[in-house]
Amino acid sequence: MNGQGQIDMVDQIMIVMETAFDPHWGEAWNRRQVSDALILTSTHAILIDSDGQPVIPLGPLAAGFVLSRHAADEEELLLIAVKPEFRGRGLGRKLIRRLKQEASTRKTEKIFLEMREGNPAESLYRSEGFETIGIRKNYYTARDGSRLDAKTFRASIK
Ligand SMILES: CC(C)(COP(=O)(O)OP(=O)(O)OC[C@H]1O[C@@H](n2cnc3c(N)ncnc32)[C@H](O)[C@@H]1OP(=O)(O)O)[C@@H](O)C(=O)NCCC(=O)NCCS
Repeated sequence: MNGQGQIDMVDQIMIVMETAFDPHWGEAWNRRQVSDALILTSTHAILIDSDGQPVIPLGPLAAGFVLSRHAADEEELLLIAVKPEFRGRGLGRKLIRRLKQEASTRKTEKIFLEMREGNPAESLYRSEGFETIGIRKNYYTARDGSRLDAKTFRASIK
């Protein structure tokens, strides 16, 4: 996806990022954070269009993405997002399932993720087999200075 005249992967991710995250929570990554992460061979990105198909060069723009990092037999889901206009039609679930599928080819046995308490994404995570394994008190700071706990989840994929 890096050819001349094409929108590269980082651009595609940033287009989704800009509208997907509520600025109040300060969870969105900036371009530098995304491109630095993707330099590492352990970081993986899955991008899908609004039909849930993998994003291909010169094809439709991304509607959602998931970023993950692999280490040994574990994968960490770093960030998942779907553009607001394409939510509620199963794209988030599709991204998680694709991640599980791809991660299993990397011999991953468990996927971890961390989420601010109260994020509605929890119902999606739970229905995809993620279970709470820990809570970090006052881990996140919102824009207004309020503190929120982080919940850590784990799902087995084997
Ligand atoms: C979380 C997110 C990726 C879900 O994307 P999505 O495409 O709407 O998810 P799906 O359509 O696959 O929904 C899957 C299920 O989770 C539930 N769900 C997902 N997001 C929800 C939300 N914001 N509020 C209520 N329920 C939600 C849906 O009810 C759905 O259940 P169903 O299949 O029984 O109807 C999307 O809401 C998003 O981009 N949020 C902002 C970014 C974010 O907070 N990411 C997570 C932290 S990194």
